[in-house]
Amino acid sequence: MNATMSLEQLRHYPVMLNQIISIISPQHGGTFIDCTFGGGGYSKAILSFPKTKVIALDRDESVKQYADLLGKTFPNRFNFFREKFSNLEKILKPDTNPKAIIFDLGLSSFQIDNAKRGFSFKKKGPLNMKMGINKFSAYEAINKLENNQLIHILKILGEERDAKKIVKKIDIYRKKNFINFTDELSDIIRSVKKNYKKFKIDPATKTFQAIRIFVNQELSELIFGLIAATKLLKKGDILIVVSFHSLEDKIVKDFFNIHSNSKNPSRYLPIQNKKNKLFDIYSKKPMIPDKDELTKNIRSRSAKLRYAIRTSENFFYPEEFKKKYSHYLNLNEINL
Ligand SMILES: C[S@@+](CC[C@H](N)C(=O)[O-])C[C@H]1O[C@@H](n2cnc3c(N)ncnc32)[C@H](O)[C@@H]1O
Repeated sequence: MNATMSLEQLRHYPVMLNQIISIISPQHGGTFIDCTFGGGGYSKAILSFPKTKVIALDRDESVKQYADLLGKTFPNRFNFFREKFSNLEKILKPDTNPKAIIFDLGLSSFQIDNAKRGFSFKKKGPLNMKMGINKFSAYEAINKLENNQLIHILKILGEERDAKKIVKKIDIYRKKNFINFTDELSDIIRSVKKNYKKFKIDPATKTFQAIRIFVNQELSELIFGLIAATKLLKKGDILIVVSFHSLEDKIVKDFFNIHSNSKNPSRYLPIQNKKNKLFDIYSKKPMIPDKDELTKNIRSRSAKLRYAIRTSENFFYPEEFKKKYSHYLNLNEINL
């Protein structure tokens, strides 16, 4: 983006924006938390309603330029923090009282389209994949992880059936040369999946997904983000998550179900709290983009929106939920 760009010129398609606006009703005013600022699509739309305030977060340094634009336009109603949303509780003051906390997970089109960020197997770029505030890059993951660790990651974060074969090839290659670029990695994967032209999706998709999730600790971010948001919301407040793949959506669905189901109480809650639900869910099925949005923005095709309304219950016992997903949380212990 160049320095003279105006807010109107910021071309970006926020996913399922109409649905988000109708769920949170910003026309009544209030404070809203945009946990994944990106190109600022949600924040900007909320701020267009006069009595609103937005607190936005993003781990990516490059979005600060868009946040600065919004900050200049709405100096008293907008605040931006370059932070991971797992740290939400550290950022928000106890008296913030947000009406809704929104997560729009994954990557922005600015991140995907920038070959230098190394997220896309369709563009040659350095094996980077860091969203921001990371411990290591994809280059370090691919070149330094033990074979068994790499296989485990491709299996659980990419659901890649050929994980063993792919890692065997990676290991042969990396013993001779470090793997530096996205196209080197995707060529290695294609050499394993020889008849790849028959595949509906590119054979590199699952491996790239797994490495990206690992580098950015995306699933533990989601788990800790949901827990933090639940603590910050009060009766009638709304938690919304837009997710883009099944691993994320399963966590969100599970989180809402476990903490909202009083008819079929969670086995994760102590007996005396089984009936005290934290959320009311209004739709069991996720919302998806309409035809019009799919035509305008093909990248919205895998989006799933789930939301729930906080009850007045304050007893929250997230330890068992964390235990259920410890196979993801344990990946944070791997140091490179
Ligand atoms: C899909 S984009 C959001 C687009 C945004 N809703 C809009 O309308 O422009 C996701 C953004 O979330 C950020 N992000 C992803 N995980 C994050 C995390 N754990 N903490 C903070 N930001 C995160 C990414 O850097 C990216 O900019």
